[in-house]
Amino acid sequence: MTTDHISPTLGWDDVYIVTTRDGSETLFSRSLNATYHSVYGAVAESKHVFIQHGLKSQSERPSIAILEFGFGTGLNAFLAYLFALDIEKQVHYTGIEAFPIDPVVAKQLDYPHYLAFPEESDIFQRMHAENELTSGPFHFHKLTAYTDILASETYDCIFFDAFAPGAQPELWEQAIFDHLFKLTSEGGCLVTYCAQGEARRRMEAAGYKVERLAGPPGKREMLRAVKQ
Ligand SMILES: C[S@@+](CC[C@H](N)C(=O)[O-])C[C@H]1O[C@@H](n2cnc3c(N)ncnc32)[C@H](O)[C@@H]1O
Repeated sequence: MTTDHISPTLGWDDVYIVTTRDGSETLFSRSLNATYHSVYGAVAESKHVFIQHGLKSQSERPSIAILEFGFGTGLNAFLAYLFALDIEKQVHYTGIEAFPIDPVVAKQLDYPHYLAFPEESDIFQRMHAENELTSGPFHFHKLTAYTDILASETYDCIFFDAFAPGAQPELWEQAIFDHLFKLTSEGGCLVTYCAQGEARRRMEAAGYKVERLAGPPGKREMLRAVKQ
């Protein structure tokens, strides 16, 4: 375990808390004018897109390697941790985050209490304060850039949770999906809340077979891209 603290971090000048329709909270980025999750339900969206249609589709594997593009509030990482405890399998999570939030902001979000796991608050806080940790079957690792990932690594489930193409078009370019395709294991998948046609075509051009699935509350569709 390392105790490296990451800085600089985003504080209250950069983000503020918004309550979404399912009662769970998310952040609003002042500079990008965008929320970190759907305003129709932050936890509902994360569970539906990343856990239900991402992680669960890989749960027959003996262990699961996750790559998340955009660690953000740590909500998806924390849900992945709860999933690992539930299925009692080794889950290796790598999160990429170029602009980490201040742990003080994360503490205020308090997802462990919302999710009725207050006893896991310490792990949620440590995900923000540390770059690497292991708790039971869950192995957590955080990087600042996707280019830091070793070319030899592969992931069974990629949580593609960048801000929307309108807010950060550079994160939805063909080169990104080409790179992620190489990092996806055989039979592995990339899931995203975004159902935009251009994003789907780029995933297909990268080599994925893309499925359009029913979206989370407030959204008609989401995408799951599978490497066959
Ligand atoms: C939609 S939010 C992610 C929400 C997150 N998955 C969660 O559960 O809270 C997008 C995230 O991508 C991060 N980000 C933006 N540009 C990035 C980049 N170039 N590389 C890595 N992360 C980036 C943002 O700082 C933000 O945390």
